[in-house]
Amino acid sequence: MIEYWESRFSNEGAMWKFEPSDSAVAAMNLFKSNSIRKILIPGCGYGRNTKIFYNNGFEITGIEISKSAIEIAKENGLNCKFHHGSVASMPFDNDQYEGIFCYALIHLLNRTERRAFLESCYNQLKVGGLMFFVIASKAMSLYGSGRFLSKDRYEISKGLKVFFYDQDSTIKEFSDFGIVEFKEIEEPVKYMVGQEPIKLIQVICKKR
Ligand SMILES: C[S@@+](CC[C@H](N)C(=O)[O-])C[C@H]1O[C@@H](n2cnc3c(N)ncnc32)[C@H](O)[C@@H]1O
Repeated sequence: MIEYWESRFSNEGAMWKFEPSDSAVAAMNLFKSNSIRKILIPGCGYGRNTKIFYNNGFEITGIEISKSAIEIAKENGLNCKFHHGSVASMPFDNDQYEGIFCYALIHLLNRTERRAFLESCYNQLKVGGLMFFVIASKAMSLYGSGRFLSKDRYEISKGLKVFFYDQDSTIKEFSDFGIVEFKEIEEPVKYMVGQEPIKLIQVICKKR
């Protein structure tokens, strides 16, 4: 995993440019309307979807496995706290967060890792806090391509393993972590002209 992402960021830089996804805008608005200020962004990459929170005055801590991605983020003015390492090593600090935003990371993990990651996030979420996850959907055109690994999990290109969620697996995996709603979305691809939108699932959880 680390080799795959490190080589992509060191070779391709800010490959998805800097315009935030619609999901990041939605999460930012949701957090703002719930007076959430202090947030954790696991798998923040080089900050494409972090910048909008930063520009809106959130106090951000990012976790990222690729050193190159963190360097790109810093070079592009993201002056926030970063922990360099895998989410498997959470917690990196003793802080409690009001919000957690996680875009396109959890589906890269295997089943045991996904569960452990959700537990780690939930443990660092304040009571009343919100988590906003964006995860790969089985409705994606990539579903079923590449090498079969296990049910709904494929190595879609060398080193890139993806678990594709549907309604059942979303409810099953998030039910112990305060899921309040989820929906299938079509995320516009803003960094490339003429691309079909990507089919993803947005999941919102609240800690009680
Ligand atoms: C599909 S990218 C999404 C990046 C970012 N969330 C965004 O919205 O632009 C997945 C990100 O998760 C990071 N990542 C993958 N596995 C990780 C892990 N185990 N721990 C921390 N970060 C990881 C990758 O380096 C990459 O930046």
